[in-house]
Amino acid sequence: MRPMDDNVKLLENYSVLAEIYDDVMSDVDYETWTDYIDEIILTHNPETHDVLELACGTGTMALSLEELDCYNITATDASSHMIRIARQKGDEVESAVHFQTMNFLNLNFDRKFDVVFMVFDSINYLHNPSDIIDLHNEVKQVLKPGGIFIYDFTTPRNSRKAIRFLNNEQKKINEFYRYRRNSSYNPKKRIHTNQFYIEKTDQSGGSVVETYHEEHQQKIYTLSEIETLVSKTDFKILERYDGFELKPAHSKSLRITMVLQ
Ligand SMILES: C[S@@+](CC[C@H](N)C(=O)[O-])C[C@H]1O[C@@H](n2cnc3c(N)ncnc32)[C@H](O)[C@@H]1O
Repeated sequence: MRPMDDNVKLLENYSVLAEIYDDVMSDVDYETWTDYIDEIILTHNPETHDVLELACGTGTMALSLEELDCYNITATDASSHMIRIARQKGDEVESAVHFQTMNFLNLNFDRKFDVVFMVFDSINYLHNPSDIIDLHNEVKQVLKPGGIFIYDFTTPRNSRKAIRFLNNEQKKINEFYRYRRNSSYNPKKRIHTNQFYIEKTDQSGGSVVETYHEEHQQKIYTLSEIETLVSKTDFKILERYDGFELKPAHSKSLRITMVLQ
């Protein structure tokens, strides 16, 4: 791919990336991840009926959860582009999932949920610790009494390992799109940056019509930092799970799933 030049358009996050997001994530096993979230729900709040997914992206997880035929699901994301793709996918399978564009720092519902969940380190998009506290407070407002909040985050150890295989990833998606990802990690500031350079080609797949650039910065937190922030909210920690296991997180965990009540 060409290096960046003056014609590259710098875009808001998850705009053009929304078009190719599912292809970029094609290696992610969302079905297993869905089963994991379902297992957590069955363990900690088995009477669950109403579920809210935050930062649902293109809706893969919500649609997969719907296949279990156990839940009434609402799924939201701040990006209208991601939600447009999610709705398209929902329409294709005649889904009843209710997709809405919504910032998770400003939740607006006239009903409450048994479970609120959020996956794939979406919380790492919050760089300011006070925003993390605000998120918990927002979620509390939309949870039924006894309801649970589930989310994961990636650890500094994960970022140090991940750049080895994410940096310089290149892929041709289809006849219209190809992309390159540059991934870097600043261990001092604990900022993980993913730069996506997306090229749109003409129908022959030959000439590049447009090049787009999205820069995604995630703040990487340690477990003790997240625990300290949770202690400043009305939630209590039920579990901190390691990876996709129902076992406690430890110092070498790459992804930690928090279960709060
Ligand atoms: C890494 S993606 C994960 C998407 C989806 N959960 C998945 O597993 O594929 C992060 C998502 O967080 C969303 N997001 C970031 N900040 C947000 C906010 N303040 N409110 C709601 N969604 C947000 C982005 O739009 C994006 O879809």
